[in-house]
Amino acid sequence: MTDSLSIRDNRTGRDYEIAITDGTIRAADLKQIALDGEPGLATYDPGFVNTASCRSAITYIDGDAGVLEYRGYPIEQLAESSSYLEVAYLLLNGELPTSDELAGWTHEVTHHTFLHENLKQFIQGFRYDAHPMGMLMASVSALSTYYPDAREIADPENRRLQITRLVAKMPTLGAFAYRHGQGKPYVYPDNDLSYTANFLAMLFKMSEQKYNADERLIKALEVLFILHADHEQNCSTNAVRSVGSSQVDPYSAVAAGIGALYGPLHGGANEAVLKMLRRIGTVDKVGEFIEGVKAGKEKLMGFGHRVYKNYDPRATIIKKACDDVFAVTGVNPLLKIAMELEKIALEDEYFISRKLYPNVDFYSGLIYEALQFPPEMFTVLFAIPRTSGWLAQWQELLMDKDQKIARPKQIYTGARTRDFIPIEKR
Ligand code: SDX
Repeated sequence: MTDSLSIRDNRTGRDYEIAITDGTIRAADLKQIALDGEPGLATYDPGFVNTASCRSAITYIDGDAGVLEYRGYPIEQLAESSSYLEVAYLLLNGELPTSDELAGWTHEVTHHTFLHENLKQFIQGFRYDAHPMGMLMASVSALSTYYPDAREIADPENRRLQITRLVAKMPTLGAFAYRHGQGKPYVYPDNDLSYTANFLAMLFKMSEQKYNADERLIKALEVLFILHADHEQNCSTNAVRSVGSSQVDPYSAVAAGIGALYGPLHGGANEAVLKMLRRIGTVDKVGEFIEGVKAGKEKLMGFGHRVYKNYDPRATIIKKACDDVFAVTGVNPLLKIAMELEKIALEDEYFISRKLYPNVDFYSGLIYEALQFPPEMFTVLFAIPRTSGWLAQWQELLMDKDQKIARPKQIYTGARTRDFIPIEKR
């Protein structure tokens, strides 16, 4: 037996051998299968449901077994024992840092958290009620104009500098967007604080000299940031890779990722979950809501996943982190509705047959709300940590000799050649 397919084209009676490598066939190998004078076969795969776009060594997911590993390290161990910056280093460099490497990386990031002062005016230009994701997407794009050297993507040193700037500045941009919406003054980064403690200070500091968040909340945010850092070829990573394949600067590629993440079917789901729970209102209304979902009226936001056909391992960890946060903030009353939804859904044939389980977004919003974030900030809290994953994937794309500019084919269904009709004859 060989690792190949024997294909007979019944239209011509011709036989073909197509190699199988890593559980895939190269779509380009299908082009040889053609009728005389016609273009060869291509694959049609809306949403890339069954198409590998790249080789990657960054994140491994086994959707059936509910396994998630960053560079081979199980997410459960990283959430338990690591920090977000250590995980970002791992994703970007492939190995866990030594203590000197981590100290150097932390120093670098800490000293790139400030923004050019003009960005304050830029953010001031948004309406008071502008969605923070719209502000974040726009301001990351704007950042590309402050660092024109970022276009030198072939220079490893330059790439490393831009990656450091983006990882460092995302919390500042997210906090400034939040403060703009609150009508509060911007809080500058405090270099004495850790990555997540500094982020909380830039969000919530008022007149106090030093803003010291509760250690348990800092730890919970570290865990949430670790869980959201990367997730192989999801919609927003695909956007970053596709835009990055044109060899544009990393700020523009990350801005594209933010745009994709903004959607309610992707990172915007955490905000949608909170609004859904609020709309259900009480536990006794859950049954009626579930019937509406089964009738196709709407989706159960925070449930389902393209890859996980079992429990999303991140949801399990986040559910545990809820307890730690609620010990500080008090239990979020919406938790009972979420748990009732989960209980009913996990026993109902509609969800079981479609293998719909809670995903990373189902419980995260409950924690964010308990941390006093408004729902429109939830996806910003997803984009900030995902930036290290996006950049690790972007860097891997640039180093991959197999990769070229993304330009898929189409099946043309429109009208063919016809003559122009003057307007008086239409
Ligand atoms: C994230 O890809 C990633 O890795 C993403 C992510 C990451 O870390 O980057 O994990 C983050 O985006 C998590 C997902 C957050 N989105 C939501 O919670 C929104 C609700 N979920 C769905 O929209 C949906 O489950 C998706 C988008 C997540 C996955 O969609 P798929 O894989 O395209 O599946 P599908 O839409 O084809 O659904 C299969 C069936 C359909 O039913 P039928 O048409 O066959 O009858 O399941 C149904 C769907 O209608 N279905 C749901 C449902 N999700 C799927 N029905 C009710 N509620 C849902 N949530």
